[in-house]
Amino acid sequence: MKVKLRIKRFERGKDREPYWAEYEVEAEPTDRLLDALHAVKWYQDGTLAFRRSCAHGVCGSDAMLINGVNRLACKVLLKDLGQRITVEPMRGFAVIKDLVVEFDRFMEKYRLVEPYLKAGSEPPAKERLQTPEERERFDDTTKCILCGACTTSCPSFWSNPDYLGPAAIVQAHRFLFDSRDEATAERLVVLGARDGVWRCRTIYNCTDACPRGIEVTRAIGEVKKALLLGKR
Ligand code: SF4
Ligand code: F3S
Ligand code: FES
Repeated sequence: MKVKLRIKRFERGKDREPYWAEYEVEAEPTDRLLDALHAVKWYQDGTLAFRRSCAHGVCGSDAMLINGVNRLACKVLLKDLGQRITVEPMRGFAVIKDLVVEFDRFMEKYRLVEPYLKAGSEPPAKERLQTPEERERFDDTTKCILCGACTTSCPSFWSNPDYLGPAAIVQAHRFLFDSRDEATAERLVVLGARDGVWRCRTIYNCTDACPRGIEVTRAIGEVKKALLLGKR
């Protein structure tokens, strides 16, 4: 099949405005959009910039706006996109070049939630034990690959870039509900701050956008509940 890719392009320091570039690619219906982007970059226009690494939905590098929806280019098949496909950088992050966006502030917020186990008490001789039920409590939020698709699809984030954002909250949830973690009070201070979870207006775009199927809005709701009623 032939597909037409309409790609929004821009290079910081060179272009004054973004512009659309069109490319035609011969591909199989079962090829992924990432394959088509490679066909452009390798055989038509080497200046096209986009991030990718694993090509299997694990590293989180290639989230982009595909036909108006945030998705991973390596997880979406051409047959599901039609023969005219628009590709843009994720919204709300500054563009460096073409589909490559700046993750600096996203990572600052990730650091802010201290995404690691904080247990100050003396460790037991062997290991800190956890029951299967206790492990299950935060299983969903362990799946995050930090692709940014949730945060950049959130209207609350678009209107207030200081909002912690769903990705950082998902990461915080993973440790807040870990029975071995002992930093609940500190974590809730960060999550309950002015630009924390209360900026979420339960719009659900984040849940729709997540390529890992994480129930992002539900996780945010659980954090809100922990702030109001204590952790359960
Ligand atoms: Fe990506 Fe989902 Fe993690 Fe958000 S929660 S960063 S969409 S994997
Ligand atoms: Fe935004 Fe998701 Fe809340 S889209 S408003 S973080 S439910
Ligand atoms: Fe790694 Fe798509 S290239 S998730």
